Amino acid sequence: MNKTIIAPSILSADFANLERDIKIIEKSGADWAHIDVMDGHFVPNITIGAPVVKALRKVTGMVFDVHLMIENPEKYIPDFAKAGSDYITFHYEATKEKTSQVIEQIKSLGIKVGISIKPKTKPEEITDFIDKVDLVLIMTVEPGFGGQSFMPDCAEKIKYIKEKGEKDLIIEVDGGINAETGKICREYGANALVAGSYIYGNSNIEQAIYSLR
Ligand code: DX5
Ligand code: ZN
Repeated sequence: MNKTIIAPSILSADFANLERDIKIIEKSGADWAHIDVMDGHFVPNITIGAPVVKALRKVTGMVFDVHLMIENPEKYIPDFAKAGSDYITFHYEATKEKTSQVIEQIKSLGIKVGISIKPKTKPEEITDFIDKVDLVLIMTVEPGFGGQSFMPDCAEKIKYIKEKGEKDLIIEVDGGINAETGKICREYGANALVAGSYIYGNSNIEQAIYSLR
């Protein structure tokens, strides 16, 4: 895969104008819409649930890249699948001994599957799962909030994942991504970039998206 996938995070959109803000990124050349789901347990923040994904599905055909930052993801995966997710990414730290089952659950629902690791988790821990998923999401901030600073050490994990993964594996990074940090990640081998505050905080969204490619 040569093209870098740009996935703006709607966490930085105006929640009172989600339809407008998702259409803005669609028109501005974004590839996917990244949707951050937080439960107040796995991370210290609460965001949106499956009903919001379902409502957004009605107003756009964009690829929905749903990032579950929740405990017991297996309980909610069917709802997010039904709501119209294209990719569902769960956190390895939230599944541990049931990781394989969660991967199979998502696949059985006909959805692409992603596994994510937090900054303190070593990439070696997910070695056995790399060839079983469509996407690996490396967090480059502690999950929970938009607008934090990029952690360069986390980006180095991309190298290990790239070495172990098949050619078509999507390696995505999330947290503190802008033109400069995005370039670092692309050079390590990331082929999908999530960016929230950098894109939605920019007066020229099209230019911001372009600058990440
Ligand atoms: C953080 C979320 C991110 C967040 C990124 O927990 O997973 O997707 O929206 O925001 P920025 O790009 O502002 O760091
Ligand atoms: Zn995210």
